[in-house]
Amino acid sequence: MIASDDVLKSLRARDFENTGHGPLYRRLQTALKGIIDDGILKVEDALPSERDLATELGISRVTVRNAVRALVDDGVLVQRHGAGTFVAPRVEQALSRLTSFTEDMTTRGMNPGAVWLEKSVGYATPEEAMALNLSPGTEVARFRRLRTANDKPMALEFAVVPKQFIPTPEDVDKSLYDALAKNGKKPDRALQRLRAELFDSDTARILGVPEGSAALYIERRSFLANGTPVEFTRSHYRGDSYDFIAEMQVDAR
Ligand code: GLP
Repeated sequence: MIASDDVLKSLRARDFENTGHGPLYRRLQTALKGIIDDGILKVEDALPSERDLATELGISRVTVRNAVRALVDDGVLVQRHGAGTFVAPRVEQALSRLTSFTEDMTTRGMNPGAVWLEKSVGYATPEEAMALNLSPGTEVARFRRLRTANDKPMALEFAVVPKQFIPTPEDVDKSLYDALAKNGKKPDRALQRLRAELFDSDTARILGVPEGSAALYIERRSFLANGTPVEFTRSHYRGDSYDFIAEMQVDAR
């Protein structure tokens, strides 16, 4: 927990009333986000009450409320009825276990969701053919989705699967891995490549974040137990919501 005084001091130090553009609540929103990004307010820390913020900063409660609401809408803060407003937890994802988005969110008590942007069948592009070890001209199923957790946008995901493993793409409903499992083709192993990127304007718009904000690009190729590639997925995760955790061990001697 952090004392309200520290939050107020950090907010005043940012001089948000005279810094930046747009309405005052936007500038307060940016200042609040800044003290969270800088780790002054950490995950699960409580925000001082609306009334205290308004009184101490000498601004109206409506301004405070609008700034807080915008951060709640962005998934940066959560409001708990009767308890107050807190910094939202980040989703932590272990790198070594092969799990699906649906499993990841469910184990964290969040409700996984998807907004479908594309389900289609076509011929593998040279890049897809290479990633999936297919001969040119093989048919693939393509799935483009906005992935959400408790309705908050988390990632934009584009999965490509050889059509023989998902003959009817319409069958994929909530989970791609569930659909593969139903066909006896659940991935057994995967290779994943991660790199930092900045959201381009289209992706940023879909995820509801400002253009140029930090993102994690993740490419996953997964394989059946016999080594056949089953999935080539490119994902763009929100950098402000997702942590990847890698466990490491010294080699046994
Ligand atoms: C994660 C992986 C994807 C995989 C997806 C399957 O998001 N990055 O490579 O396709 O999980 O999730 P689901 O079964 O929920 O569709």
